[in-house]
Amino acid sequence: MAPPVNRQVLLAARPTGTPQPGDFKLEAVPVPEVGPGEVLVRNVYMSVDPYMRGRMNDRKSYAQPFQLGRPMDGRAIGRVMASRHAGFAPGNYVASMHGWREYFVSNGEGLSTVDEKRAPLAAYLGVLGMPGFTGWYGLKEIGKPKAGETLVVSGAAGAVGSLTAQIGKILGCRVVGTAGTDEKCAYLTKELGLDAAINYRTAGDLHEALQKACPAGVDIYFENVGGPILDAVLRILNPFARIPLCGMISQYNFQTPEPGPRYLFSMIGNRALMQGFIISDHVDRYPEFVTEVAPWLASGRIKYQETIFEGIENAPRAFLGLFKGDNMGKMLVKLGPERE
Ligand SMILES: NC(=O)c1ccc[n+]([C@@H]2O[C@H](COP(=O)([O-])OP(=O)(O)OC[C@H]3O[C@@H](n4cnc5c(N)ncnc54)[C@H](OP(=O)(O)O)[C@@H]3O)[C@@H](O)[C@H]2O)c1
Repeated sequence: MAPPVNRQVLLAARPTGTPQPGDFKLEAVPVPEVGPGEVLVRNVYMSVDPYMRGRMNDRKSYAQPFQLGRPMDGRAIGRVMASRHAGFAPGNYVASMHGWREYFVSNGEGLSTVDEKRAPLAAYLGVLGMPGFTGWYGLKEIGKPKAGETLVVSGAAGAVGSLTAQIGKILGCRVVGTAGTDEKCAYLTKELGLDAAINYRTAGDLHEALQKACPAGVDIYFENVGGPILDAVLRILNPFARIPLCGMISQYNFQTPEPGPRYLFSMIGNRALMQGFIISDHVDRYPEFVTEVAPWLASGRIKYQETIFEGIENAPRAFLGLFKGDNMGKMLVKLGPERE
């Protein structure tokens, strides 16, 4: 049998504006040899995330830029196929930052085993992984929700947003989500139990729509998208409102950012707080997150969805789909079978 080939995705060009399929290149290379103290991992799932758009630029940021002509990387869950490392055995599943490729060899640095019996493997990239952790941390630590308050979550049908919104409900808030299709809005109210959902593409006057959905004003706005939704929420803030600034996906493909937001002054009179955060600064809180959220997941109190593309050749399409709203819940790529 011919040795398996390792296919990986390289950054072929730095995008101007919205990334295009030609900015990525799929190449096939031999599967690396396993040396002493090393493991060979076959990736099963990889994550595509909005922050990767920033890494396609050659700009200093909290995450290193991808290098032109080099394989991209990101979160992945894989199966150990061969091991010469005392800490990992064949058959173990591991989380790594070596996505965008089918196989890799590692000396164990940055690898951690994941328990496939505790939750489905893919969940470790979504609801129980970095996106879920982000929603939990941002809502609890910056949003500081109290029962009876009104929470608005943008990007509410996505990976971060759908968990944030459900935690808001568990903590007793009135929760209003925004999303880009009627199907997503129906999922938010009918499946996840949100109090209202607004399709920001068809709502018309967003200020009016939000005012109607939030008759008592907004105490917490969990920001995932930026742009016109932020503008509209700022106009209906309550005194001492909190705004965890998690992401602004509507801005990521702009070559030059748009002016705004226009209603920032509303934060002065309302003594509102807006705080950005990067979840990798808070990894010490991850076990606490899992302890709290895993039981909600196991009991069905928290629901989640995944949109899974098959095959590494479709990883760029999955990534580009994030900017078109192609995903319900976490966007993932399945690179191979969970078991051999
Ligand atoms: N601060 C941190 O540490 C941290 C960590 C993880 C993620 N984030 C941020 O959190 C946000 C959500 O990330 P995620 O991984 O959960 O992604 P996601 O919400 O699962 O996927 C992205 C979603 O964004 C929406 N979207 C795309 N373009 C938009 C636009 N122009 N206006 C409004 N919505 C738009 C789409 O849904 P619709 O159909 O609703 O448009 C799409 O499904 C992103 O901004 C990301 O950068 C931050």
